[in-house]
This record gives sequence, structure tokens and C-alpha cells, in this order.
Amino acid sequence: MISVRNVSFRYRGRETFALAEINMEIPDGEFLGIIGPSGAGKSTLICALNGVIPRHYPGDFYGEALVEGYDSVESPGDAARSTGSVFQDIDGQISASVVEDEVLFGLENFGVPRDEIGGRMEEALAAAGISDLRERSVHSLSGGQKQKVIIAAVAALRPRIMLLDEPTGELDPASSRSVFEFLKRLNGEYGVTIVIVEQKIMLLCEFAKRLAMMEKGRLVLDGGVQEVLQKADVLENAGVNIPRVTTLARRLRSGGLYHGELPWNLNAAEKMMRGILSGHTAF
Ligand SMILES: Nc1ncnc2c1ncn2[C@@H]1O[C@H](COP(=O)(O)OP(=O)(O)O)[C@@H](O)[C@H]1O
Ligand SMILES: [Mg+2]
Repeated sequence: MISVRNVSFRYRGRETFALAEINMEIPDGEFLGIIGPSGAGKSTLICALNGVIPRHYPGDFYGEALVEGYDSVESPGDAARSTGSVFQDIDGQISASVVEDEVLFGLENFGVPRDEIGGRMEEALAAAGISDLRERSVHSLSGGQKQKVIIAAVAALRPRIMLLDEPTGELDPASSRSVFEFLKRLNGEYGVTIVIVEQKIMLLCEFAKRLAMMEKGRLVLDGGVQEVLQKADVLENAGVNIPRVTTLARRLRSGGLYHGELPWNLNAAEKMMRGILSGHTAF
């Protein structure tokens, strides 16, 4: 459980706030997607949740962020213990030269019992779809493969909460989907809370339960995926890419041809089109 209460943060030396009066409750088992244009404060919010801010990046911090009841500013170590973070900068997070050592380091540092280490490592590598990379040198991997190694290493620690900042940035569509499938398993089978910053809105729409949109340090939208997508104008004005079928539906709406909910995937769009073609414009 995460509670963000009136959190504002300004990096030292900056005039504007990177986070401005953020309030949000993230219950256990949530799968929350965070979207918003570049510079909106998404990465800063993630860092406020895992205690990196203000510990490693000084500045003015107001309000409080509680992670499993621990204040991220007063007791950052306790707050961070239940979280696993995957940062935007993948290379900065890799500390080993061989894939299996990367996972091993984390497990050993975390004090996981010796007899559990092997099983956990295999499970995490298999779930991330990289069992075959186990003995490879990290430096020989592609960006996408490195991202999977980091995600596997974090997941192996079985954190209660996973915070991921654009973890599919370097991945092709198929690998991005497999990362989301992996997160879905962690969320569904192990009840891990997922908070993920992601540009690929179609994937978020499919996998997340809830969407939050940030703009200029503020939380502008926060709700169920379907509910947030109905605010397509707010998303588009902020420069967030919305699914093309949603844009099509908006145009049909403004032309008076459609009055229903905005679809965000092909199935819903097909339903919309069938309705329009059969002459039921007001459903
Ligand atoms: N280490 C830093 N020092 C000073 N300003 C920063 C730092 N990191 C980010 N910022 C500023 O904070 C704002 C929010 O940045 P960020 O959280 O990275 O946004 P996003 O992840 O949504 O792109 C931006 O104006 C950015 O320039
Ligand atoms: Mg960012």
C-alpha cells in the first residue's frame, strides 16, 4: 500500500516544482500505468516512492509518501525494502558482467537463503524469457535483453511493489508485450503491486487496471483505464499518444456520427463501426 499525500518536490536550484501537490492511494495488488509528456514528473514521482528523492537528489520535499506505512523521507530504508525499482537508465543499474551474476548479486545482498537462490534465479530468468542468456556477458546483450535482465533481477527479490520507469523503452513490440505478460503474472499470481511509467499506451490499456496522467508535475487524470481514456481530449492536448481507433471515434463523434464510449482496441472499434453502419447512431 502506498499513500502519497500532498507531495510537492522541487529539485535544488530549480524554480518550478517537478511534483506539485500529488495525492494518490495505491492499494496492494494494483496495476497502475503512469503516462504523460516528457518532463511531466513521472520519473520524479517514481523516485519519490522508492526514497531516491530526496535522499540522492536533494531539494524541497513537502507532504509525505508512505510505503507500507513507512515514510519515504524519514525512513527511506524501511520504505524501500518492499519496493523493487527498474529505472529508465538501464546501463546505470547493471553491476555484474555475466547475466546470472546480476541476478545472484541481488539475491545475496538481500540475504536470501542459499538453498533458495538457485530456484529463484531460474524462475525469474525463465519468466522473463531469458534462460538461454544465463551465461552470457551482459555487455554483449542488446538494450532490450539488458532490460529483461534487470527486470528479472528485481523480480527475483520478490518485492511487494515493483516500480518501473519506461522498462520497455528499448524493446520491440513483441518483447514489450512479453515484459507486460511477465508483470501480469507477478501481479496476478504473486499479488505484486505494479506501478509502471510507460509510453506504449495500447499495452497499458490492455494490462493496467488503472491509469494516471501527469502534466507539469501535476496529477491531471487518475482512474480506471476506460474512464481515463474517455478524456481523450485531455490526453491529446498533453501530447500523449492515444490509440488510433480512439482518434477515429473522436472524429466520428465530432461529425455527429457517434455518441457512445470511446473505444481503445480493435474489438471495441468494430462494435462501434457495426453500430454506425447499421444506423444506430445514438447507442
Ligand atoms: N536531477 C534533476 N535535477 C534538476 N531537475 C531535474 C532533475 N531530474 C528531472 N528534473 C526536472 O524535473 C522535471 C520532471 O522531470 P522528470 O521527472 O524526469 O519527468 P518525466 O519522467 O515525466 O519525463 C523536468 O522539468 C526535469 O527537467
Ligand atoms: Mg522519465
